[in-house]
This record gives sequence, structure tokens and C-alpha cells, in this order.
Amino acid sequence: MKHALVFGGSGQVGRPLLARLLRDGWRVTALSRQPQHERPGLSWLRGDLGVLPALPRQVDAIVSCGPLDAFAQWYGQSQVECDRVVAFGSTSIEVKRGSADPHERDVAQRLRTGEEGVFAAAKVRAADATVLRPTLIYGAGRDATLTRIARLAQRWGRFPLPRNATGKRQPVHVEDLAAAAFAALDNPASHGQVYALPGGETLAYREMVRRVLAVLDPPATLIELPSPLFNLALAGAKLAGGTGLGEAAVQRMRSDLVFDDAPARRDLGYAPRRFAPNARMFDAREDIEEL
Ligand SMILES: NC(=O)c1ccc[n+]([C@@H]2O[C@H](COP(=O)([O-])OP(=O)(O)OC[C@H]3O[C@@H](n4cnc5c(N)ncnc54)[C@H](OP(=O)(O)O)[C@@H]3O)[C@@H](O)[C@H]2O)c1
Repeated sequence: MKHALVFGGSGQVGRPLLARLLRDGWRVTALSRQPQHERPGLSWLRGDLGVLPALPRQVDAIVSCGPLDAFAQWYGQSQVECDRVVAFGSTSIEVKRGSADPHERDVAQRLRTGEEGVFAAAKVRAADATVLRPTLIYGAGRDATLTRIARLAQRWGRFPLPRNATGKRQPVHVEDLAAAAFAALDNPASHGQVYALPGGETLAYREMVRRVLAVLDPPATLIELPSPLFNLALAGAKLAGGTGLGEAAVQRMRSDLVFDDAPARRDLGYAPRRFAPNARMFDAREDIEEL
């Protein structure tokens, strides 16, 4: 029986990945900072990537679905014997690299350092590494973009966007990401590679939000405001508890963030679904029942 050590297994992508591994007969050891439910084939270790409990001496694969920088630091010093590692990064490595916001530039830099760290540590161990870079993730009701928009829209009955929110997006479903990570595990073509993992449909930001609002019960209305009015609404929302939307993120609504999935399709059989949301995708209870 193959044995995987999974970091970030309690996350929105980690959960469906654990389910896939278990269905395929893997034994899984997963780490979480919170207590988790055991089930046959799955053992949870309690700990933080910075302060780890005793880990298995040898495994067949290590997968990281959590913070890449902390994982890379751990992996660089790890004693766990393993010749296969698959780690999630993010397309933010490119999107946020030139951001006007220093915090976003820092995110991009930490992703860069993380990716380099994973490949460098894999080389020292003669292990094969693959890095997967998702775009905007949705599907488990726990993401910080579309689920947050859905919750605010549910509360307000409407959701405002600036009129020029026409930048292209490729939202990607958690299950498609889990499938890609699973496919990478046994796939020599992916050794040493970095893949962008966009969703299966490219659409304008405002159309993406419109589809989310349309599936809410009751549906919420999209209000497109001239930029000065939108900025005023945003300032009001920030005062009333925050939207998590920074100025750089608002600017980006006009920019196309589009990535090529051809290498992932070719090497991993990646076939992401089109963006057809339903209300359950913005409700975390559905996800928790899954595993
Ligand atoms: N969300 C997005 O839109 C997005 C976009 C692009 C890329 N990504 C990347 O894709 C991967 C999956 O993202 P996700 O949204 O599924 O993640 P998520 O739901 O936010 O889950 C994060 C996971 O990381 C674990 N974790 C966080 N800090 C940790 C620490 N210090 N030590 C140990 N474990 C820690 C959490 O475990 P516990 O809380 O149980 O300890 C949780 O399982 C991540 O690498 C993320 O950076 C995400």
C-alpha cells in the first residue's frame, strides 16, 4: 500500500485530494493544526509546519496543499525519505510580482522563494518535484474571493462592481485541482515541471460575479457603478467591517489574468470544468460533509 504525507490536507483543495488518495487505496498521514476526524487509511498528526510532531521515516509521496514558503522551509531540512513531491504554489507569483501593493509583492516573492526552495531541496535528495499553480479557487465555500462575494451579496441583496470590471478570469474548481495533484503523483512527465492550473472557462470578472449572484437564494443583483461611486461604496464597506478588497485588487478587475493550461492538459490529462456555479459551492457545510 502506498503511503502519502500530506500538508494542508484539511484545506479546500486538500480535502478532495485526501478523498481521492483514500479511494485509490493509499494510506495517508496528514498534518493539521486543528483536531481532525480519523478514518480508515487516514491518520492525522497535530502540528504546525514550523513545529512538527514525529513524522513517518519514509513515504512514497509528499504533497503540499498549504503555505508553500513554510513547506519549502520544512522540506529543505526534512529527514523524511521520499522521492516524489508535489506542491501547490499560485499564479499570484506572476500576477502580484509587479503590484503597487508591497504586501502583494511580498506574497509573490515568498511564492518564488518557495518554488525555488522545493526544487533545490528535491535536487539534493534526488527526488522529483512538481509545482502546481492554481488561479482563483472556488467550490468548497471557503475561498476568500467568490465565497466572500456571495456572503456579502446575500447580506446586502446586491453587490457592487466598478463598471470596467472586464478583466478576464479563469476560476478553478477545488476538485479539478485535487485531480491534477493526484494525476501528477504517478506521472514522470511532470517531474521537474511547474504547471499553471486555470479553470476551464475564461470570462470577464463581472460575468464571473454575475453568475455567482444569480445562483444565490434569493438571487442578488449586480450593480455596476462608475469608478468614483464604487470607490466611495468600497470605503463605506471598509468602515462597516471590511471587504478584504485592496486598491490593487480593484485595479486588477480591469486586467486579464489568463494562463495556458495546455502543458497540464498534455502531461496530467487536466480537464478543468467550465464555470457553472451553484449555491452549494459557496456553503462550507457541504465541503465539511465530504470527508
Ligand atoms: N485560495 C486560492 O484562491 C488559491 C489560489 C492559488 C493558489 N492557492 C494555493 O493552493 C493551495 C491550496 O489552497 P487552499 O485554498 O485549498 O488552502 P486553504 O483552504 O486555505 O487551506 C490551507 C491549508 O494549509 C494548512 N496550513 C496553513 N498554515 C499552516 C501551518 N503553519 N502549518 C501547517 N499547516 C498549515 C491548513 O491546515 P490547518 O488549518 O488544518 O492547520 C489548511 O489545511 C495552497 O498552497 C494555496 O496557497 C490558493
